Amino acid sequence: MPEGSAVQRMFSGIASRYDFANRVLSLGLCVGWRDQLVDAAKAADPKSVADLATGSGDVAFALRRTLPADCAIIGYDFCEPMLELGRIRAKKENIALEFKTGDCMSLPIADASQDVVTIAYGVRNFEDRAKGLGELRRVLRAGGTLFVLEFSQPDRWFRPLHFIHVRCVLPILAGLLTGDFGAYKYLGTSIAGFPNAAGLETELNAAGFSRVSHKRMLFGTVALHQAVV
Ligand SMILES: C[S@@+](CC[C@H](N)C(=O)[O-])C[C@H]1O[C@@H](n2cnc3c(N)ncnc32)[C@H](O)[C@@H]1O
Repeated sequence: MPEGSAVQRMFSGIASRYDFANRVLSLGLCVGWRDQLVDAAKAADPKSVADLATGSGDVAFALRRTLPADCAIIGYDFCEPMLELGRIRAKKENIALEFKTGDCMSLPIADASQDVVTIAYGVRNFEDRAKGLGELRRVLRAGGTLFVLEFSQPDRWFRPLHFIHVRCVLPILAGLLTGDFGAYKYLGTSIAGFPNAAGLETELNAAGFSRVSHKRMLFGTVALHQAVV
């Protein structure tokens, strides 16, 4: 698993180009995946949501657009340049959305205080996944739900194509788009080394979650996981 400080440095370096690169590299598909996460969170009818590893707030803004105004939504990340982009956007678009500094290894959130926790493409970057999942569980109230959107391992027939895409095409394209070849070489390595959906379910169960389930998307390259405290 990657060192937290290295992940922090990496996202600081690509912050200003991150959202644009994301859209282009996923051919816009990331928007649909994010919306599925938001719809699932909405179905839980929360009054409080913590969007962790929020980055520049893509998920947090979509949650704010979708959930009722009386639902408190706060985005947390440990990378200040990413958070600053979210704060600037919130101010520019006059959207009441708060962004706070917070490391998922030790969150500045009270025990059992959140109805829903969302995290998109963050768990893969945890320095210690068992510790991080335990922390996500700690901040959820009894009956609260965790939603994890994350890259996953595709169906067997799609693996050769996926391997070439993730290990060769993606790092080169992303490097050209952002000027940071190293960051996207890491992206490929981290995707390839991440457990499949069943493996992450095992880890969620081990962290104390129950009613763990998932939905695979685009031949299993991405999965939306759901787990209840
Ligand atoms: C790939 S970006 C995803 C951002 C956003 N969730 C999205 O969907 O666009 C990953 C984010 O996770 C953050 N991150 C990684 N590890 C973290 C940790 N331990 N605590 C807080 N944020 C973390 C990074 O700083 C980065 O902003």
